This record gives sequence, structure tokens and C-alpha cells, in this order.
Amino acid sequence: MKNAPIGVFDSGVGGLTVLRALLEGMPAERFIYLGDTARLPYGTKSASTVVRYALQAAKTLHDEGVKCLVVACNTAASVGLEAIRERFDDLPVIGVVEPGAEAACAASSTGHIAVIATDRTVHEGAYQQAIRRRLPQARLSVRATPLFVALAEEGLTEGPIAESVAQHYLGDLFNASDPSMPDTLVLGCTHFPILKGAIRRVTGAATRIVDSASTIASAVRGGISGALAGSDDARPRDVRFLATDGIERFARVGSRFLNRTVQPSEIELVELKASITS
Ligand code: DGL
Repeated sequence: MKNAPIGVFDSGVGGLTVLRALLEGMPAERFIYLGDTARLPYGTKSASTVVRYALQAAKTLHDEGVKCLVVACNTAASVGLEAIRERFDDLPVIGVVEPGAEAACAASSTGHIAVIATDRTVHEGAYQQAIRRRLPQARLSVRATPLFVALAEEGLTEGPIAESVAQHYLGDLFNASDPSMPDTLVLGCTHFPILKGAIRRVTGAATRIVDSASTIASAVRGGISGALAGSDDARPRDVRFLATDGIERFARVGSRFLNRTVQPSEIELVELKASITS
């Protein structure tokens, strides 16, 4: 069990921002990363479709013998976490919403927290609930920013296009002349951290920008405390990559998310188990 890999999945390459944090925080572990690139985006789809896709991704990783499942997609975690936990009750299942909310509450001093995410995540209210559980008096400004997903998948993360989209979504919220503007911004989608530079230009330097990556490794460690690999098992960068489509694009864009070169030859094309339904 200790030597079994940890499964990580997202709708695309965005979850690689989470995998990167896990690789840094848990160097003795092996990982299998699954990007459901054939069906991205999840964020514009109905809850029942996202749950169905999430269960199929979870089944694929479960069949690979993972010892724990990290749902590195806020959209899937917002709507599908309970369904995955019920279906695969032999596995610890960790989503990215709670660690993201944890990081936001720790960062904010005024209690005014902005959250940006996909349409589905915003609609489900998972961040709103997770933040309010920790900080009942929080003031929340929540926005769907779906174009950021397309920009990230396209690798258009800097420059005038990314900045004008950031301005479009966030310009009025982060108005430096407004003393009550949010002091913290949660990137509630794993595709967004790679756009941090463009987002930062709009929020200004003083805003704390947080995401789940900073706290995910400790959440996973807590979830599998009895099954952690020993430190003498160190096997740096032991990752298998699975994708449901677009291997070349996954390699090209994923290399930027992961901050290391991913070769197309490292990525296996898979079909998800379609037999499982919600
Ligand atoms: N990376 C996914 C998330 O964290 C969203 C991208 C998508 O819409 O598929 O929500």
C-alpha cells in the first residue's frame, strides 16, 4: 500500500499546478496524473455531467491501484466529491476546495475574500460554504471567469490578451480607490495559477492571491497518514501521465504548468471507463 501511487485528476492540464505542489511536498511518493482533455471544459457543464465524468475518471485511477485520489479540479470537487467518496469508499478522496478555502481564510486580514472559478463551481457554492464554515463573518465577492480556462489551455498566460481578460473580469472589483476592496483573491480553479502574473497586474501588489497548491500536500499527508511512502523510498518525479486526447498539446502546455519538460512519449492515451454512471 505504501508503495502504491497517488492518483490525481483534472479535466485537463490545470491540475498539474496541484501535481507540482505534491511533487515538491511529497518527494517519496509515486503519482498517476489523469487529464480528461477530450471532455474539457467541465466548468460549463451541468452538475450531473460533471459527476458522471468525475466518477469515470476516479474509476480509471482506482483500477490502476492508487492508494488515494486527489480531485485536482475544483469543478469536479465542488459537485462530485461525495459521489466519488461513496462509490470508492476504500480510498481516501481529497478535493481542492477545502485546502483552497483554508489558504484563503489564513491569508485574509479584512475578511473580504474574492473567489474566481468556473461557472459550475460558482453555481454550486462550494467555496462560499467552505470559507463561511471557517470564517462566518467573511464578505465574499464571487465571480465566474471561464475564459481563463481557455487561455490557460492555449498557453496564452501572459501579455495583452491575458491582461485584458483579467481586466474585464476583475477591473471593477480591484479598484485601488475603493478602501473596501478584497484583500485576498482565491484562484478557485486549478487552471488559474499559471495566469497569476496577468491577474496580479489587475489586483495590485497588495492583494494576497492564494490557491489550493500551498496547502494540498499537507491535506494529502493528513488523508493517508498510515500509508505514506518512507523517506528512503525517494524516487524524484515518478509520475505517469494519462490523457484522453491531445497528447502533443498536453505535453506542450503541461510542461509550463509543471515547470519541467513533459515529452509526448511520457503520456499514455486512455479511454475512461464509460460503464460507471452517477
Ligand atoms: N481545472 C478545472 C477546475 O479546477 C476547471 C477547468 C474546466 O472548466 O474544465 O475547476
